[in-house]
Amino acid sequence: MNLKKNLNLIKDLTVFVAYNTDIDAICYLNEDFEKKFSKNEFKQALKEEPKAIKNKVDLLSGILRSMRDNNAEELPILNPKMVEFLKNNIKPEEKRMGGQAGIMSNLLSTLGCKTIVYTKLLSKKQSNLFRDNENLFFPKVNKTLKLKHPKKCSKKVKTKTNWIFEFKKGSMVFSTKAKGSNRFIAASRPEEINLEVEKLEKHVKELANLCDCAILSGYHDLKKKYKDGSSYLDHLKSAEKFLEKLKKENPNLTVQVEFASVPDREMRSEILKRIVSKADSLSMDRSEISSILKVLEKEKKLTSIIEYYKALEKIFEEFEINCVKIHTLNYFMGIFQDYLNPKHVKKGLLFARDLGASRIKKGEIEDKEDVKIAEGIEVSRKGKKERKKFEEFLKNSKGEKLEKGLYKLKDKYVVLIPTKIVKEPKRTVGAGDIISAGSFALENALEKSGGK
Ligand code: GLC
Repeated sequence: MNLKKNLNLIKDLTVFVAYNTDIDAICYLNEDFEKKFSKNEFKQALKEEPKAIKNKVDLLSGILRSMRDNNAEELPILNPKMVEFLKNNIKPEEKRMGGQAGIMSNLLSTLGCKTIVYTKLLSKKQSNLFRDNENLFFPKVNKTLKLKHPKKCSKKVKTKTNWIFEFKKGSMVFSTKAKGSNRFIAASRPEEINLEVEKLEKHVKELANLCDCAILSGYHDLKKKYKDGSSYLDHLKSAEKFLEKLKKENPNLTVQVEFASVPDREMRSEILKRIVSKADSLSMDRSEISSILKVLEKEKKLTSIIEYYKALEKIFEEFEINCVKIHTLNYFMGIFQDYLNPKHVKKGLLFARDLGASRIKKGEIEDKEDVKIAEGIEVSRKGKKERKKFEEFLKNSKGEKLEKGLYKLKDKYVVLIPTKIVKEPKRTVGAGDIISAGSFALENALEKSGGK
């Protein structure tokens, strides 16, 4: 991979990123954590399948399930007493930039993209977590639209905090063993987060024409009901209009939606219908793809690569999106049609593989040079095996191998890239965002440059 060349191309790209930022209070699970719960609570937690955190048992249950199934889960905290419980009982080891928009805009601007990030709760504390990159901006509206560093745009508003429980493969809480290194998120739901863009609404045309592409996420942060009587659906409808307007004002703008954990089925279904179906590309992880499928058909467990391929195909057809991508531990896969140049999509994912591995190993990509960390990391053997399985399936289905990792099956392109496996992950939260943002930025930069 030619890092220098990739970074050179990325420099010419302008990306708009919205909506979600928060402070991630990161806790590494250890024996002390267990002491906060009784044996009885543990027994109860094993039986439950919570959709939200209303008490201690729900919290423990979410964490145990995530460990047992190696699933990156997130549940909303719906009881203020539980926020108090967390504040009083768990001491986070780090506080970092959280939320897809926050994590992605820090990464993209570090890589050199001109990055415009919009988020609603830009408190002083929140804005301080944005890096001091000269090419990172907030779209500030004061009659006219001006681009200023987020730190210069902070407001007197609440700060959203999410609690991240990171665990390592093999670690134990009571008798539950972690199947892999992963994380569970207990997420706050401030009343103020509603995806409204306020004054920016009047400047969508200008904004859309400043950018080559956009990454949208944070729809999962909506509340079902708001104190002013509005509902998630009212706000989702305005977000839908905003997206439609972005696309109308700049039809060349490529839009990617980053999915997230949405435990409420009805909300999930509306996000898919109103938002995802209007984007060009959808990016998901393993738990997200299963949750999307649950909206479309009876629940079934996805294990083999062929099942994942079929799931991608189903989502592609159902929501009529040009490109659907998934990032898993051992491979990334994308299927697309009428999207960007297939070779650009493949190069994007190869770049993302190094970004992901470097981030998981170091915990953060703070500098362009950090991407080099991945050079010494081995490609997943399991991922390569899965690729072989897929190639067998391709042969039997009369598909065509165009080059290594790039295929044509039926009328769609398929890209399949084995990941690089980090043996001792430093931190996993946000790694998927790095992968999605990195691949999307490079594929768009390559497209912009005409593939040079
Ligand atoms: C979700 C969580 C946020 C976390 C992010 C990482 O947006 O709400 O806390 O930082 O995912 O992907």
